[in-house]
Amino acid sequence: MLREDFIYPEGIYLDGNSLGLASRSSIKTIENRLKEWQTLAVNGWASWFGLSESLSTDLAQLVGAMPEEVITTGSITTNLHALLATFYKPTDTKKYIVATTLDFPSDLYALQSWTQHYGTELRLISSRDKYTLTDEDIEEAFQDDVALILLPTVLYGSGQLLDIKRYAKRAQEKNIILGVDAAHSIGALPHDFHDWNADFAVWCSYKYLNAGPGACGGIFVHEKHFHRIPALKGWWGHQKHTVFEMRPYFTHEPGAAAYQISTPSILALAGLEGSLKEFKKVNILDIRKRSLELTTYLMELIDQHLPELEIVTPRNEERRGGHVSVRHAHAHLLSLALRARNIVPDYRSPDILRMAPVAFYNTKLELDETVRVLRELLDNQGYMKFQDNVTDVV
Ligand SMILES: Cc1ncc(COP(=O)(O)O)c(C=O)c1O
Repeated sequence: MLREDFIYPEGIYLDGNSLGLASRSSIKTIENRLKEWQTLAVNGWASWFGLSESLSTDLAQLVGAMPEEVITTGSITTNLHALLATFYKPTDTKKYIVATTLDFPSDLYALQSWTQHYGTELRLISSRDKYTLTDEDIEEAFQDDVALILLPTVLYGSGQLLDIKRYAKRAQEKNIILGVDAAHSIGALPHDFHDWNADFAVWCSYKYLNAGPGACGGIFVHEKHFHRIPALKGWWGHQKHTVFEMRPYFTHEPGAAAYQISTPSILALAGLEGSLKEFKKVNILDIRKRSLELTTYLMELIDQHLPELEIVTPRNEERRGGHVSVRHAHAHLLSLALRARNIVPDYRSPDILRMAPVAFYNTKLELDETVRVLRELLDNQGYMKFQDNVTDVV
């Protein structure tokens, strides 16, 4: 789509769902911010102060929110802690947190911190097939004694896309706070967090947003919650125009910006500053269209040429995120063997090989070649020689 805007490494890169590639515009914005540091030193804060807020209008478009409802800050797990501190207020009759067994572990660790803190309990919705969740099982978990539910938009393992609109409606009916982890959907597909009435969301910028390793994450807080005062306060969330009056008491910035805690890394913000320029060149609906075209094509190729690999990603486009996951007993060895051939997928324990054809930069020809190499590796069992390296490489 805009492949020439990206610095493409040698070989075939199918791991944009873990770390997106560097765009030329991100490199440029990072270099510019570095230059400012070198030439302006502390005077650089004249343009760095408020940099996070300046990204909100473009970011809001990607999650379907008002600019005040989003802010670039922190990272997923730390942001989740900040939001849980504010939104999770268990009572005697409404006290449980619900998540799923297929969630990214760090989210579950954060949730456990808070249930342990309050002496309550984390309930997990389990999967019937180890890879996906059913609407019935998810909805069943919306019980009256539940205070908060956290769901991912897209499951990091199988790539299943969940129907957040449907669950947000259910959450409202049951007076439950719904939080969302959009790590595997932001930048890959459209969202409508405001209209869906999700209560809050978190995401990172290093996957489909291509903002760079360790780039700043982001949060969404629905405007209906703007009256809340963040439980974890820091000076960066203080009302901006009075923050340097150094008052002893906290007056929060209106909106999601109130949840910022500390000085952000300007270099980490600069990567996102550049990558958002790429997202202004194309409509997110076109990105989604291209992504589905590529994942459908890859699934067809796998069906045709690689019957040993079981596709665990939903076939239904409405239920598919941006990557395709296949199950194989030697998935880890296959991922190592592909990397040795300069094709970069990734592996998730215990038996999943993930491949993300990214709308911005991957092509169908690359998918043809990946499937051809996989066929060869399966035929000659060339992956078995990586057995001894299994603990060395991720
Ligand atoms: C779905 C999901 N949630 C949470 C995380 C953890 O992110 P962070 O390291 O930014 O806290 C990841 C990391 O890849 C993830 O994929």
